[in-house]
Amino acid sequence: MKKDRILVTGGTGYIGSHTVVELQKAGYPVVIIDNLSNSNRDVLDGIERISGTRPDFVEADCTDIDALRKLFADYPGIKGIINFAASKAVGESVQKPLLYYRNNLNTLMNLLDLMGPNGVKGIVFSSSCTVYGEPDENPVTEKSPIKKATSPYGNTKQISEEIITDVINSGAPFKSVILRYFNPVGAHPSAEIGELPNGVPQNLVPYLTQAAMGIRNELSVFGNDYNTPDGSCIRDYINVVDLAKAHVLAVERMLDDASEEKIEIFNLGTGLGTSVLELIGAFERSTGVKVPHKIVGRREGDIEKVWADPTIANTVLGWKAESSLDETMRSAWAWQCKLRERGIM
Ligand code: NAD
Ligand code: WQD
Repeated sequence: MKKDRILVTGGTGYIGSHTVVELQKAGYPVVIIDNLSNSNRDVLDGIERISGTRPDFVEADCTDIDALRKLFADYPGIKGIINFAASKAVGESVQKPLLYYRNNLNTLMNLLDLMGPNGVKGIVFSSSCTVYGEPDENPVTEKSPIKKATSPYGNTKQISEEIITDVINSGAPFKSVILRYFNPVGAHPSAEIGELPNGVPQNLVPYLTQAAMGIRNELSVFGNDYNTPDGSCIRDYINVVDLAKAHVLAVERMLDDASEEKIEIFNLGTGLGTSVLELIGAFERSTGVKVPHKIVGRREGDIEKVWADPTIANTVLGWKAESSLDETMRSAWAWQCKLRERGIM
């Protein structure tokens, strides 16, 4: 049976591109909207090389409601939206808060505005474990308290969750699945798509692979005096392909009306906490490549430890993280090698 068309905002980005591939594998026709502010057109070639199908692509900004209206007119029959489009650099959001509030919130509000009139049944929203701040207890469940956001970026995720809730509670004729990602890492095993950070990476894994490649002198480990077994911070690193697969299940759930609930929230993590030093060890062990690194002081605003309780995603959504950390590290390295091969980095 022919499946309904899905609109993927931010679909040429890191998580979006992996999700487009999984949607295509599941038989969904996809239309991407992206303004290419943090990605490029070549990603479409990578997607096509993996899936054999080039997704429809509209280069436009989701804050431009007329462009979105035109998209719905040009691509009729969109039944689901996955909203990845957002600005995501925590540090930059402190410097340019209005850019973050404007981009992330107007994008979401424009989509919510157009869903009813265009007969869209549901929207999947990319939220983040950042909403839990420094948790009182680990692992965190979906019922763990939401802490005051420590950056405008984090605040846009909290506000977005509230906007979705208010709009749906007002009687809007659609559903939403809110996915709280922990730390997405790695790349597609084909090394055709992956994370392509702009400038100096702020996140651990892209910095690590660049240091291993010699692009950066050494990786700075931010602190070894935390209250953790080896003193470095702990996170829940989730393979990006595993993460992408959860979006397909979320879309199916909304389109099939599989749940009575109009809003559902799922933590997407492995359930395992891994320290920075353990992650470096896993990379070195699984690739045989050394990571030059040194311990430096703590990074301001860092969370000491956070990892997910993914039980609800496991049982209700039927999703489970499957890849091992070693496999994920090998995929991150294969992607870094591919970037080198292509002369990109
Ligand atoms: P990304 O920057 O790689 O992808 C986002 C894409 O959206 C980019 O291609 C960008 O060009 C596009 N975009 C941004 N604003 C747009 C706009 N107004 N109109 C059209 N396109 C626009 O980021 P990602 O890592 O793939 O993250 C995807 C989503 O997941 C984001 O909402 C992010 O906040 C969220 N998230 C990411 C992480 C993470 O660590 N990567 C963790 C939790 C949540
Ligand atoms: C991971 C660990 C660092 C870089 C951020 C956002 C969060 C979410 C995910 C979107 C930490 C350590 C890092 C380095 C290091 N994004 N580190 N040296 O801080 O968990 O979360 O991305 O929603 O909102 O805040 O991810 O990859 O920056 O750091 O030692 O050069 O690696 O201290 O412990 P983080 P990260």
